[in-house]
Amino acid sequence: MTATAVDNQQQAKIAAGRAVSELVADGMILGVGTGSTAAEAIRAIGRRVREENLSVRGVPTSFVSEQLARANGITVVSLDEVDSIDLAFDGADEVDPRLNLIKGRGGAQSREKVVANAARQFYVLVDESKIVQQLGTNFPVPIEFVPMALGPLKRLIVTLGGRPELRMGKAKDGPVVSDQGLWILDAYFDGIEDAYELNRSLSDEPGILDHGLFLDLATHVLVGQASGAVREIVRDSPN
Ligand code: A5P
Repeated sequence: MTATAVDNQQQAKIAAGRAVSELVADGMILGVGTGSTAAEAIRAIGRRVREENLSVRGVPTSFVSEQLARANGITVVSLDEVDSIDLAFDGADEVDPRLNLIKGRGGAQSREKVVANAARQFYVLVDESKIVQQLGTNFPVPIEFVPMALGPLKRLIVTLGGRPELRMGKAKDGPVVSDQGLWILDAYFDGIEDAYELNRSLSDEPGILDHGLFLDLATHVLVGQASGAVREIVRDSPN
């Protein structure tokens, strides 16, 4: 990407983050997502907390979002302390026309799914580059799993028509270790024919904690634009 394209994408993320921050009301319990777009939302909510003296609690989806939430005046709580989440927000790697998603470039997909599932509204924050016709076009499906299950899991992915790649650390020799102490396998499919079928196959496989296919969870998608405008897509009916 050129420097201008990177800057445009950043402006789009800021726009999406600001848009969701405007939906936050005093006393709300939030699901706090992970990634560069969710971070813009946390910062925008932090500005409202400071300027309007809002009191907001949030369930974080990763260690890094927990730190950022605290730094921005969001009181961190666990799912044991709250009955439900009013509004969860998070980024995504891909969004298809049914508002199904691939998430987990940052490795936080398992906790992200627990939080999204506990939320009355789940807002997905993206820029236009994340909108696809078919999931699996640009990103792999990340799978968090128990390390000793690596062999069977790789064979399963090949059987399902995918290409498995163990996610490796960049500033560490060896595999990336998740916030849960597990490993992550990226499954590349070059387009997923039937995401529901793949979801079933992965959910049936022993040793998998969870994976990055988020089906029928998003209620709203906010697509930020470099101009600062935001396009909203709303799930019209539950599937
Ligand atoms: C974190 O594990 C991910 O699910 C992110 O939410 C997702 O990859 C989107 O990240 P960006 O907003 O940084 O693109």
